[in-house]
Amino acid sequence: MDTVLSGIRPTGHLHLGNYYGAVRSFVKMQNEQNCYFFIADWHSLTTHPTPENIQNSTRTILAEYLACGLDPEKATIYIQSDVPETIELYLYLNMNTYIGELGRVTTFKEKARQQPDNVNAGLFTYPTLMAADILQHRAKWVPVGKDQEQNMEMARKCARRFNNIYKTELFPEPQNYYFGAEALKVPGLDGSGKMGKSDGNCIFLCDEEKVVRKKVMRAVTDNGPQTPNSEKPEVIANLFKMMSIVSSADTLRYFEEKWNDCSLRYGDMKKQLAEDMVKVLNPIRERILDFSSDTARLDKIAAEGAMKARESAAATLKEVRRTIGFRVY
Ligand code: ADP
Ligand code: TRP
Repeated sequence: MDTVLSGIRPTGHLHLGNYYGAVRSFVKMQNEQNCYFFIADWHSLTTHPTPENIQNSTRTILAEYLACGLDPEKATIYIQSDVPETIELYLYLNMNTYIGELGRVTTFKEKARQQPDNVNAGLFTYPTLMAADILQHRAKWVPVGKDQEQNMEMARKCARRFNNIYKTELFPEPQNYYFGAEALKVPGLDGSGKMGKSDGNCIFLCDEEKVVRKKVMRAVTDNGPQTPNSEKPEVIANLFKMMSIVSSADTLRYFEEKWNDCSLRYGDMKKQLAEDMVKVLNPIRERILDFSSDTARLDKIAAEGAMKARESAAATLKEVRRTIGFRVY
């Protein structure tokens, strides 16, 4: 069994892109591998949230993950700030990481542009904290989106460098994990290529049924097919892509045929798409409500996850301290 780890910063709500692109696959992996999933609340401090912000968004994301089927009996689900061992490893890794390479990370450069008055040292060392998250469990696979490739390269560098300096093989080099043959990209229904929080085009897992229907009915379309079997423009291709993700093969085929013989009415297609989405989302939303209303249960799940995560991190840290030449306690 391999060790798999992934984390998410607690901001906003999970949307259909997160669900089909990432969460659904974690849910499958927890049955097959030794999985760790955590909420990166330390990382979120780089933008200075309030204490209320942190607590609320951490609980929200935890409830939404659990509602999707992440199971604390199968995977270790925890909150980053509950595992202080991470910070000690972060310190050691920082000693072998150079300001030149941290300064070249594009996510750092982008953030520095977005928040010029708050270019803090935590933002600068974001990649070494992420490396500590991963290496403390000696994870082999990390399911992340393409945007995390550079951070993953830094995590591999941290592992390689530590192993070289101390002539050890303590850390495996963690690899990016993409599900399926290629990463699935859930489209936006506003004419943009991707559903994303920053694009403001999301269908959230917690959206009420009527909100989902309204969002789908507002999806951008055109005048309809003019010539039989023509190629679809991007906005229409996105609508079909979304249908291929949430609807049955028969439904998709039915509307493909309508497109091909130019009898497609977008209103009918959107109604069907909304119906199928609601079918997927209703049970998830109900479970979100159920989990969010029980903060004691959420806190208990997080506390139990933290215990398991700390055990694994402490075992690694013991080896690290011994290797560096510190007392092991
Ligand atoms: P957002 O882009 O909305 O800010 P995050 O960056 O928090 O989302 O992404 C969390 C996870 O969800 C990542 O693994 C990312 O690759 C995945 N993800 C986000 N949007 C999509 C999408 N439209 N299609 C597929 N996967 C997505
Ligand atoms: N940087 C990741 C993101 O923005 C979140 C994250 C923090 C993470 N630590 C991690 C992801 C460790 C995977 C492994 O999405």
